[in-house]
Amino acid sequence: MDDLKSKYLTLIDSVGDETGLEDLRVQALGKKGEISLQMRELGKMTPEERQTAGPALNALKDEINSALIAKKSALGDAALDARLRSEWLDVTLPARDRPAGSIHPISQVTEEVTAIFADMGFSVAEGPQIESDWYNFDALNIPGHHPARAEMDTFYTHRSDGDDRPPHVLRTHTSPVQIRTMEAQGAPLRIICPGRVYRADYDQTHTPMFNQIEGLAIDKDISMANLKWVLEEFAAAFFEVDKIEVRFRASHFPFTEPSAEIDFRCSWVDGQLKLGEGDDWLEAGGSGMVHPKVLEAAGVDSSVYQGFAFGLGIDRLAMLKYGIPDLRAFFDSDLRWLRHYGFQPRDVPTLHGGLSK
Ligand code: PHE
Repeated sequence: MDDLKSKYLTLIDSVGDETGLEDLRVQALGKKGEISLQMRELGKMTPEERQTAGPALNALKDEINSALIAKKSALGDAALDARLRSEWLDVTLPARDRPAGSIHPISQVTEEVTAIFADMGFSVAEGPQIESDWYNFDALNIPGHHPARAEMDTFYTHRSDGDDRPPHVLRTHTSPVQIRTMEAQGAPLRIICPGRVYRADYDQTHTPMFNQIEGLAIDKDISMANLKWVLEEFAAAFFEVDKIEVRFRASHFPFTEPSAEIDFRCSWVDGQLKLGEGDDWLEAGGSGMVHPKVLEAAGVDSSVYQGFAFGLGIDRLAMLKYGIPDLRAFFDSDLRWLRHYGFQPRDVPTLHGGLSK
């Protein structure tokens, strides 16, 4: 028994891992283990022999068992220590550099403009970029022979031979969304519609695709005065100045009557544009009172309702606010340009947070 004891205690002491330890347990205390076999021998002994051998064997079994348990926890501790050492992490190292995208100025300005009009109770409406002849022209009081169709340098889609229906167009303005929204929602309503529009034109201030934002307010008691106030509020908030004077210049659009070109008061000093002061005027877009024919085309009773509409150029607003000189660069996808003029993705514009931070 002393031999067994010293043999196993030595073996347990020197074993280096848990599988080795388990092997030892089986070898000593398993069903056919050396100590278990000795226990079985007890049955063959005389009662006297058993009286001394029994307790001694049990004590041996207990001792080996305790040694196994102690070793097992020591091995566990050692393994944990080793893991902690190998999985050590330096949390003070600088983070890995990841390429970050930026928000395009058009997207940023669209968000800014939307935030301002949302604050005045306008909701956002949208319409398709490929538009029917009816929505883009006829419903807006631009009949087939009207010169406005030619003036807008319209892109037409192709109809198959023998198909006499008027071809669809790439919408030349966001005004068709006026009709679609009045049809869908009826009156009263207050909406803005930002989106892409298309005209065959290309120079420093024109691209074949550009962005407009349409505004429309329909109710029973709406006048040009409301239109002017809304535009002044918008301009002051957008350019982040206290006040901007808006001037109406008489104009003509088939879908508004009367119609007015929108100008903001500004000054140019050493090539620097300042809004809200000075003796110059900056063209910002078109506007007017919605033509009764347009209301009727969209199913709104023009003897009860009237309203104003306006259209502003988003790209132009972005160029003016952020000093971007060439419109064409907006759509070149040049990474250097995007990094320079782009915005941080988390800088979501809000009125209370400051629009352009
Ligand atoms: N749709 C006109 C344009 O693109 C702008 C406009 C909109 C004018 C609404 C009056 C009212 O030129």
